[in-house]
Amino acid sequence: MTDNATMSIRQTEQFLHLYKPPAIDGNFKGKHIISVEQFHRQDLEALYAVSKTMRQRVMEHDRDLVRLCEGRLMASLFFEASTRTDMSFQAAMRRMGGSVVSASNGVQFSSVYKGENLADTVRAAGCYADIIVIRHPQIGSSYEAAYYLDRLNERITIPTAVISGGDGAGEHPTQALLDLFTIADLKNGPDNLTITLVGDLLYGRTVHSLVKLIGLWGAQNTTLCLVSPPSLRIPDTVLDFVQKHGITVHETTDLYEVLHQTDVIYWTRIQEERFARKADYEAISDNFIMTPAVLNQAKRDVILMHPLPRKHEMGTPHDHDILDQNPRSVYFQQMENGMFVRMALMAMVLGAV
Ligand code: NCD
Repeated sequence: MTDNATMSIRQTEQFLHLYKPPAIDGNFKGKHIISVEQFHRQDLEALYAVSKTMRQRVMEHDRDLVRLCEGRLMASLFFEASTRTDMSFQAAMRRMGGSVVSASNGVQFSSVYKGENLADTVRAAGCYADIIVIRHPQIGSSYEAAYYLDRLNERITIPTAVISGGDGAGEHPTQALLDLFTIADLKNGPDNLTITLVGDLLYGRTVHSLVKLIGLWGAQNTTLCLVSPPSLRIPDTVLDFVQKHGITVHETTDLYEVLHQTDVIYWTRIQEERFARKADYEAISDNFIMTPAVLNQAKRDVILMHPLPRKHEMGTPHDHDILDQNPRSVYFQQMENGMFVRMALMAMVLGAV
């Protein structure tokens, strides 16, 4: 890594300490959404009630839905690969009648190509849009965006809120919001459940956010089982956070120790792109493979979730096909819920509902 790159990582991470995301406290309007720590149970319940309304309205082809965010603009700033997060945010905004802007041909062909820094790229989008959705490989990047937007907003006409679409190996708050929505929707939870997260718990930002969110919900009588190779254990900060919120946690390297009692399986991809050494990735990349045979050993009413994309941690394309037909696999519902929850979130941040 060049000295410049190391310095820019350090500068971005310092925003984790410099900027404290505002608590939602019953009011989403105008708030940046960059960490699940902003949410309490009542905020989640409010968000999920609106998400269900959105689902209903889309299902009924409600023509008034496009009135909700008519004339509002979302800027999509993705500095890292994305399919679902980017498309679902864009679809969400368009279904509510808003529009989306992004640099033509992606952010790599914006002035970033000329060496413009993150703050100035965010400031530019902030001058044009009501909401910025940002994904960036560095932890703290959305905090940096929020910090500079607060200053920009004092000087321009249209204030802009930023929503994180993933902060490096840090957090992915909106994924956790839709994951918990799916659990609450399908399992009447997350109370009274055994929820087992498997795979890359170290670099998996969706895992960090979901685990924290289960703690913030204050799930009653719920056990979290964390299954990973020793080298990919969940960060201690996340573990401490959820334990402080009264959740029982069981860490293991053996899936079969917990599979039979699990109600929700959350399978994850090993985040190959975050490993400094390929050999470290290869040493553990085959440790946990979900196949139809593995799923068959779980409870009859288990649900199998995955934030996607999936690779060989769900076996071969043939295994995918068999797993997809199993009613216990809910990752497509989970993916669709992403759009409803993001519709609700943006409408609430814009004060449109
Ligand atoms: C996840 C991500 O980007 O963190 N994908 C997503 O947003 N649905 C998970 C992953 O990439 O493995």
